[in-house]
Amino acid sequence: TRVFVPRDSAARSVGADEVAALLERAGGEVVRTGSRGMLWLEPLVEVETPDGRVGYGPVAPEDVDGLVAAGLLDGTAPGLGLVEELEWMRRQQRLTFARVGVVDPLSPDDHEAHGGNAGLRAALALPPAEVVGAVTESGLRGRGGAGFPTGIKWRTVLDAESELKFVCCNADEGDSGTFADRMLMEGDPFTLIEGMTIAAHAVGAREGYIYIRSEYPDAIATMRAAIAAARERGWLGERVLGSELSFDLHVRVGAGAYICGEETSMLESLEGRRGQVRAKPPIPAIQGLFGRPTVVNNVLSLAAVPWILAHGAAAYAELGVGRSRGTSVFQLAGNVARGGIVETAFGVTLGELVNDFGGGTASGRPVRAVQVGGPLGAYLPVSQFDLPLDYEAFAQAGAMVGHGGIVVFDDTVDMAAMARFAFEFCAEESCGKCTPCRIGAVRGVETIDKIRAGQDREKNLVLLDDLCTLMTDGSLCAMGGLTPMPVRSAVQHFAEDFR
Ligand code: NAI
Ligand code: SF4
Repeated sequence: TRVFVPRDSAARSVGADEVAALLERAGGEVVRTGSRGMLWLEPLVEVETPDGRVGYGPVAPEDVDGLVAAGLLDGTAPGLGLVEELEWMRRQQRLTFARVGVVDPLSPDDHEAHGGNAGLRAALALPPAEVVGAVTESGLRGRGGAGFPTGIKWRTVLDAESELKFVCCNADEGDSGTFADRMLMEGDPFTLIEGMTIAAHAVGAREGYIYIRSEYPDAIATMRAAIAAARERGWLGERVLGSELSFDLHVRVGAGAYICGEETSMLESLEGRRGQVRAKPPIPAIQGLFGRPTVVNNVLSLAAVPWILAHGAAAYAELGVGRSRGTSVFQLAGNVARGGIVETAFGVTLGELVNDFGGGTASGRPVRAVQVGGPLGAYLPVSQFDLPLDYEAFAQAGAMVGHGGIVVFDDTVDMAAMARFAFEFCAEESCGKCTPCRIGAVRGVETIDKIRAGQDREKNLVLLDDLCTLMTDGSLCAMGGLTPMPVRSAVQHFAEDFR
């Protein structure tokens, strides 16, 4: 029987490598997989049985001998039971993450055995415009944060006249509390390659780049190894899967700047320059990498596409609410009892995610605030826990879904300090191109310091609001433009912390 131990960096950080080595020494046939995303159970060891995989976790190195003696290697030792039957798993709808934690990420055979390449084969049998049509019909929107309809973006690139076009995957995942891009790349890299290849066929590109942040060494190594394996299999290169399509992929590594997750900065960085924002228009779909029409999509957007082509746009569009269709991969982090990956249809409420999936805080104290959508997202109080995860509902509440990261805070959080942190972060990470952001962020820190010190408090609160309006309206990109969101939401929902 096979024993599965994650090689995901979250699992490795708590000892998965040692556990895998010990299990191997005890005679187990160990297969390294991605993580199921139940981070509080890592290292989670799974054992193949006739009924499915049974789980044990968290397994510390010192637990291994006892568990093996109790029958772990044939799945008879008492443990968590069938992993797929755990409530956390059963309540999810894993489409994009269906294979993460299941397959050996670097085995092309495993990929195909678990339904991989079905989407690519379906796409290659269609003319490009029909592939774009399917993505449009599915309702898929950009999972990087902005939620722009992916099909419309692809249509723009398809319609642009150029001999040279590119597909670029944004894997810079800089948002605090987000890790889904990393887990997908470490756990199921062939699905991302498949999604990018479908995009290439759909828009007429021959070359693609994956821009990965340097903080993700495991993801970088996994993607590089998967690309090499895909080339060897004829899944990349000339005549992909025997079709007319030629497409090849390259990994490029960032150097630690948050702003390089902004698409035009990322393109500058890919071209070998300092990551600084370009004014839009022109949008990258018309003039992107090296001035050519370029699809720039987040990891999760591209990785959703194979499922859509394999199972049909209608099946994807059936899930979700309003204009937020399909599933999204939410990430629970911060002070939360059960952190990890929740892939489910849009429409799940904030309370369901934080309380039902997350189990409240890790500290056991009451939840006071959650920040949704990264460091530029709003802080929401518990009174907003009925809010459904839906791009429009969040926008109406002065918040954003963003990349789906949810960071939980308990009642010891100082929200004025969190508002200060938003400006501090912006001052640190600003690319410096425009004044509202470059100067505004520094003035914001100073103004909040005055408010916290009780200096002309009312006057400074008005000034703070003015500054927020100026940054929202006058910044060139979302960095300066969205920094006011956490600040304003903190002032609005947690006014007592500013008194
Ligand atoms: P945006 O609204 O300017 O653009 C969204 C996308 O649509 C871009 O790719 C843009 O080029 C494309 N687009 C716009 N009009 C188009 C058209 N007519 N045809 C084809 N394509 C078109 O938003 P932006 O500045 O790209 O992203 C802001 C978002 O980024 C924020 O809402 C935030 O949630 C998110 N974000 C994500 C982070 C992460 O780590 N994933 C970090 C920071 C921010
Ligand atoms: Fe650069 Fe900030 Fe202006 Fe964006 S808002 S272009 S990060 S200075």
